[in-house]
Amino acid sequence: MSVPPLTFPPAFLWGTATAAYQIEGAVREGGRTPSIWDTFSHTPGRTENGDTGDIATDHFHRRAEDVALMADLGVNAYRFSVSWPRVQPTGRGPAIERGLDFYRALVDDLLDHGIRPVLTLYHWDLPQELESAGGWPERDTAHRFADYARIVAGALGDRVDMWTTLNEPWCSAFLGYGSGVHAPGRTDPVAALRAAHHLNLAHGLGAQALRAQLPARAQLSISLNPSVVRARSQAPQDLDARRRIDALANRVFTGPLLKGAYPQDLFADTAALTDWSFVHGDDLAVIKHPLDSLGLNYYAPTVVSDATDSHPRRTDGHRATDHSPWPGADSVSFHQPPGDRTEMGWSVDPSGLYDLLLHYTREAPGLPLMITENGAAYDDKPAADGSVHDPDRIRYLHGHLSAVHRAIADGADVSGYFLWSLLDNFEWSFGYGKRFGAVYVDYETRTRTPKSSAHWYAELARTGVLPQAPELPELPQAPEPPELPELPGA
Ligand code: FCB
Repeated sequence: MSVPPLTFPPAFLWGTATAAYQIEGAVREGGRTPSIWDTFSHTPGRTENGDTGDIATDHFHRRAEDVALMADLGVNAYRFSVSWPRVQPTGRGPAIERGLDFYRALVDDLLDHGIRPVLTLYHWDLPQELESAGGWPERDTAHRFADYARIVAGALGDRVDMWTTLNEPWCSAFLGYGSGVHAPGRTDPVAALRAAHHLNLAHGLGAQALRAQLPARAQLSISLNPSVVRARSQAPQDLDARRRIDALANRVFTGPLLKGAYPQDLFADTAALTDWSFVHGDDLAVIKHPLDSLGLNYYAPTVVSDATDSHPRRTDGHRATDHSPWPGADSVSFHQPPGDRTEMGWSVDPSGLYDLLLHYTREAPGLPLMITENGAAYDDKPAADGSVHDPDRIRYLHGHLSAVHRAIADGADVSGYFLWSLLDNFEWSFGYGKRFGAVYVDYETRTRTPKSSAHWYAELARTGVLPQAPELPELPQAPEPPELPELPGA
């Protein structure tokens, strides 16, 4: 049976995504000071193999080569982040032009190749000095972020028109200050809730600063990683577990951002920890600054139940820890759904992406959605001839893009898709062991080899039509069933 080709809208953005600390390296060059990820990755035991971003993919020195790679891929957009301590060392005071010059050159290269720059201001690399002064649990950090936003907008506002304030504030707040598996590695549930609010506030103050500084055509966004939370059963206590995690993973951000209010059930669930008096008078009005699009990062759904059963608690695909990233939700346990998984152990479930897109179409009517991250880690290895074949990644992408297509057909306004990631890179506490790139990086030589998924994605970006994915390898044939004797009277 032939399947009709899946064609995407003509103006669709086809991009790849990266983040500064994961690819740049050159951590001590040009006046850059340490970020919390430098400190964290250099602390024994915090990352697999003690890996750090010191050199990473050496993108800082291979910028032109990497932009040329993207041009070969034919993508029309690139989502990257600016390293705060590279452009404003210590997070306060004047900018250093040498740091800004790197991003000016990157953006110029992109524009020369017809690739639209999509700039993220904060992808987790808080200047260490701001953490030493209290970090995201402190209100002042939000004001520092607004100053930094103003600096970057002043330098790049003439040539970048898509601006994202924060990447996945959930990870910054709850993995950084709750479970401690991300920098700065603190394990204090109240600090995590305070951090969540001050990240929201940073977004609002940052959005105000950007609007004041940027030309009217500039578009403002934020990239969230909402959990697609599913209850393991329809039992009331499992549905309540779902509600709690939905509040802590999703509505703690989308409440203030989209509706100008924190959810009441979140206050109730965390009342034993805090009275939320760190939320001040005007904060919610500031946070509800109008957005031009909502960035959504999706990898896998989350399945929860009430923990009164005997299932072990899981940390939802992040590094194992004794500390929960879910303040006030100790009664919830996490489950691994059956079926395929990626090298991260995350389940492969494109229906989650469909559900996510339809959910935010209803939650944020009129606000275009952009998939700012989606992709998969697999254990890619070069073949004898040096080529890298990654059919699992192609199947993952094919499945998820089919889901995006279906969501668009069902009414979701999706304006673009950014494959995570352009390159294999420093996968945070997992170090270099997890490869998410469409382009393979040899960490001995830093040479880049586009994997077969890169060629597949290039065809998609060029045509706007979803190419077929390779068939799954054939399973061994089941033996023919023995012939049954004819039944009398048949
Ligand atoms: C997201 C991060 C990104 C990358 C992917 C795999 O949570 O934003 O930097 O690590 O996961």
